[in-house]
Amino acid sequence: MKIIPQPQKLVKISGNFTLDCDCFVFCDAKFSSLAKRLAAMIYDSCNITVTLTDEIDQAKIIFNSDDSIPREGYHIMLSQSGHATVTASDVSGCYYAVETLRQMFNLDAEQQLVACANCYVEDAPKFAYRGLHVDVCRHFFGVDVIKQIIDLMSQDKLNKLHLHLTDDQGFRIEIDKYPLLKEISAVRKGTEISVGGKTYVDEQPHGGYYTKDDIREIVRYAAEHNVEVIPEVDVPGHMVAALAAYPEYSCNGTPLEVRKTWGISKDILCAGNDATYGFICDILDEVSELFPSEYFHLGGDEVPKDRWCNCKACRERLSELQLSNFEQLQTYMVEVFRKHLESKGKTVICWNDGITADSDKKIVCQVWKPFTTKSGIKEANNGRKIIMSPFLRAYFDYPYAMTPLKRTYNFRPNKGVKKSCLNNVLGVEGCVWTEHIADTDKLFFNLLPRLDALSECAWGYRGAKFGKRLKKRYELYDKAGLTYNGDATLSRCRNVSIIRKFFKKDANIELNEYKNKK
Ligand code: ACM
Ligand code: ZN
Repeated sequence: MKIIPQPQKLVKISGNFTLDCDCFVFCDAKFSSLAKRLAAMIYDSCNITVTLTDEIDQAKIIFNSDDSIPREGYHIMLSQSGHATVTASDVSGCYYAVETLRQMFNLDAEQQLVACANCYVEDAPKFAYRGLHVDVCRHFFGVDVIKQIIDLMSQDKLNKLHLHLTDDQGFRIEIDKYPLLKEISAVRKGTEISVGGKTYVDEQPHGGYYTKDDIREIVRYAAEHNVEVIPEVDVPGHMVAALAAYPEYSCNGTPLEVRKTWGISKDILCAGNDATYGFICDILDEVSELFPSEYFHLGGDEVPKDRWCNCKACRERLSELQLSNFEQLQTYMVEVFRKHLESKGKTVICWNDGITADSDKKIVCQVWKPFTTKSGIKEANNGRKIIMSPFLRAYFDYPYAMTPLKRTYNFRPNKGVKKSCLNNVLGVEGCVWTEHIADTDKLFFNLLPRLDALSECAWGYRGAKFGKRLKKRYELYDKAGLTYNGDATLSRCRNVSIIRKFFKKDANIELNEYKNKK
C-alpha cells in the first residue's frame, strides 16, 4: 500500500475490501462531515453513492469515536466481514483516517470500484507541530495559491501553515487603523532579479496584500483541512515596508522606500519611542483577531543594531531600563509585545537568533541557524519549547543540489535532546522564502516532493520504498498540473556546480535545467 506519510502500524489481513455498489455509512455525530467528505470522494472517483444511515447493521462503513486514541490519531479496520471501520477520538484524527483511506482506495483516480487489501492501521503522529512557512512578502501569492498549498499540506498530514506576512519588501495584510500599510507598504517599485549571471532591478511594480476577508477565507479553508494558520509580524527588523509608510516609527525618521533588493536592512523599528510600541500593538490587535491559532510569530531574526546605537531615544531607553547591551533592548521590546499577545491568550514564537538568555521561557524558539541544530537542542534541554527548521534541511528556497531530498527526509527533529526534555520538541517546519520564487512554477518545483519528505519526517515513521510511494504522488501532481522535481530521489547527493551557479546570480538554474532536460 503506497501511503505517505507511512502509518505507524499497518498489518495486512487476507482478503480484499471492495465497494462495487451503493451502500451506507454509519457515523458518530461528531464525524458526520468527514463521513460526508469520504462519501463525496467515493462518488467522484467511482460514481458509487454512500449514504448516511442511523442503522449500524445496515452500514458497510462505520465511523466510531474512542477517547483512548491519541490526538490526531486513528485506527482503520478493513475486515474479512467486508466492513470498513474508522475509529478516532477527535475530528483531526478522523480527518487523517479519511486521507489515508483516500490513498488506500486510490480515490483520486477515476475507477469502477473501491478495492483494497484488507488491513488494520493504527496511526498517530510523533510530532504535534508539522509546519510549513511561506514568505508571501518577497513575492506575493494570492488566496487560491494558499489554498493549493493547504490542500497539499493536508494530504501530507501537515497541520501548521506559518504565513510570513510582513517584511522589508512588502506588508501583506490589511490593517484598518493604518491604511497606508496597504496603499504604500504593500507595493514595491521593482524587484532584484538574478538570472543568467546578471543581477539587476526590474523596475516593475510588485504588490499585493490580503484583505481581512481574504484572511478569514484562508483560515476557514485551512480549518476545514485540519491546518492551523499562524501569522508572523516580524519585529523589530524586517520592517522597512511599514516604515516606508510610517517613517516616524524608525530611529531617524528618514524617508524610506519599500525595498526592491534583498539582504538585511539596517532600518528597523525604534525601541526608544513609546509610539512605536503603540503602532505595533495596534497591528497585533487586528492581526490576532483574525487568526484563532494559539500561536503568534513575532519574528525577531536578523536585527542589526546600528540605528539603535546612533539613536538618542534608544540609548536613553537602554539606560532607563539599566540594560547593558542592545540585544537586551530587543529582548525587552519583544517582551512588551509578548505580554500584549499573552493577554489575548497567544503563545509567541520567535526565530532563534531573536532569543537571548533573558527571553521569557514561554517564547517558543524556531531554530533555523546556524548550520547545526545545537542551539535548539540546548534550548530544549533548558526547558524551552522548540520548532526545528534547520537551514540545511528545512529551507526549501534553496536548490535540491544544495539541500537534497534525503537531508529533509532523514532529519530527526528531537535527536540529541535529553529524554526528560523530549516533550519540548514540538516538531518541525519547512520554510519557503521567496526572494527567488516569483511564480507558482518555481514555488511548487521547490516544494514538491520536499513536502512529502517533510511529511514523513514530521509524522515520524519512515517506511520502506519512499521512492515508489512518491511515484503515486507524482500522478496526483501531474493531474493537478503542478510542477515538481521528479529527479529528487533519496539517493541524490549535492551538486556543487549547480550550487555555484545558483549563488552566482542564476537563481532559476535548477528549474531551467530540469525543464530543458524534459
Ligand atoms: C530567517 O531565515 N531569516 C529566519
Ligand atoms: Zn531609536
